[in-house]
Amino acid sequence: MQTQAAIYREIDLELSWSEQEMPERERTKHVHRLHPYLGKFVPQLVEVFLHRYASPGQLVWDPFAGSGTTLVEANAFGARAAGCDISAFNCLLTRVKTGSYASEALLSDVVRLAAPASKAPRTTSPYLKQWFATRSRRELLAFRDRIELTSYPDLWRVVLSRAARSARLTRHDDLDFPREPVQAEYFCHKHRRVCRPVGEADKFLRRYVRDAVQRVQEFSELRLESSATVIHGDARVVDPPEPVDLVLTSPPYPGLIDYHEQHAYAFELLGLERRDAAEIGRGVKGYCDDVAAVLARAAKALRPSGKIVVVVNDSRGLYGAILSAAGLRLEDRVLRHVNRRTGRRSGEYYEEVLIATP
Ligand SMILES: C[S@@+](CC[C@H](N)C(=O)[O-])C[C@H]1O[C@@H](n2cnc3c(N)ncnc32)[C@H](O)[C@@H]1O
Repeated sequence: MQTQAAIYREIDLELSWSEQEMPERERTKHVHRLHPYLGKFVPQLVEVFLHRYASPGQLVWDPFAGSGTTLVEANAFGARAAGCDISAFNCLLTRVKTGSYASEALLSDVVRLAAPASKAPRTTSPYLKQWFATRSRRELLAFRDRIELTSYPDLWRVVLSRAARSARLTRHDDLDFPREPVQAEYFCHKHRRVCRPVGEADKFLRRYVRDAVQRVQEFSELRLESSATVIHGDARVVDPPEPVDLVLTSPPYPGLIDYHEQHAYAFELLGLERRDAAEIGRGVKGYCDDVAAVLARAAKALRPSGKIVVVVNDSRGLYGAILSAAGLRLEDRVLRHVNRRTGRRSGEYYEEVLIATP
C-alpha cells in the first residue's frame, strides 16, 4: 500500500486539475459537447500529450476513437487525425465533430429544419413506441424526415439523437442506462423535486440545432488542420490509412460501460447497424488478448520515433501483461489525479497514462 506522499510524488501535476481549475464548460468546449458520451477523455489531457509527443502536420491514430476527442484535439493542434471505433454511432459522432461546414449552407439547413411537417410520420418500432411519448415521437420523426432535405444530414442526425436522449421517458437522474420508461411523476434526485416525464421533443430540437451551429463554427475557426479519417470497424483488424507518428488512445475497460447500449435510442432512430458482439470489454474473458492485438497492430503502423500513449484506470492491474503481449516496452507511467466534483470524495480517483514504444 503506497502512502499518500508517495502517490503525490508520482502524480503529474500538468495532468491533474480540480473541478474549479477546469470547469465543465472548458472540458466540453466547442464540438466536444455535441452529444453526451459516457467514458470520454478530457480534451485538455489529449492536448498535453499532443504537445509532448507530436508535431503539427504529423498523423495521430486512435484505434478506440469513441466520441472523437483525440481526433478533434489533433486537428485543433494542427496534426492530421485518424481513428476507428466499433460503434457506428461513435463513428458518426466523430465524423460530424471533425467535419467541415460552410456557414451559408448551415443556415439554409436551419431554415429547412424549421419547416412545418407536411404529414404525421408513423413508426412500427416497438422501442420508439415504448420510450417516447406520442408527441415527442411525432416531433422526432418529423425532424428525421426533414433531415433528408439538408446539406449536412449527419450533423442533424447527431442533433436528432441528442434531442431524443433528452426526450426519452427516463428519469432525469437515470439518463445513462435507464432500465424502464417512466410514465408518471417521480421524485428526481438530480433536481431534488418531483419531476414529470418529458412529453415533447421540439424544444430540445430547436435548442440543440442552434447549439450545434455555434459549436461547429467555433471549432472551424480555431482548428489548424481539417484532415480526419474515421473508420467504422474492429480495431483488432483495422489499420490506419498510413504510417502514424503518435498513437493516443483509451481502451474500453472490462465490465464498465456498454458503448452500444448507451446510445440505443440513436441506433434505433437512425437505423444504424449494431456490432455489440465485437465490442471489447464486454467481459474480462479475452480482454487482455483483444487489447494487446489492437496495440500490437497500432505499433506496426508506428514510425520509428513514435510513441503509444494509453490512458487507463487499470484497477485490475492488467496492463503490464497487455503491453508485453503487444510487444511494447513501458517507457514511462504517469498518474493523473482525477477530481470530478470538489467536495465529493467519491468523485476522486487516479488514472494512469502509460507511454510505450515497440
Ligand atoms: C474508453 S472509450 C474511448 C473514448 C474516447 N477516448 C473519447 O474520448 O471519446 C473506448 C471505445 O472503444 C470502442 N471499442 C470497443 N471495442 C472495439 C473494437 N473491437 N474496435 C474498435 N473500437 C472498439 C468503444 O465503442 C468505445 O467507444
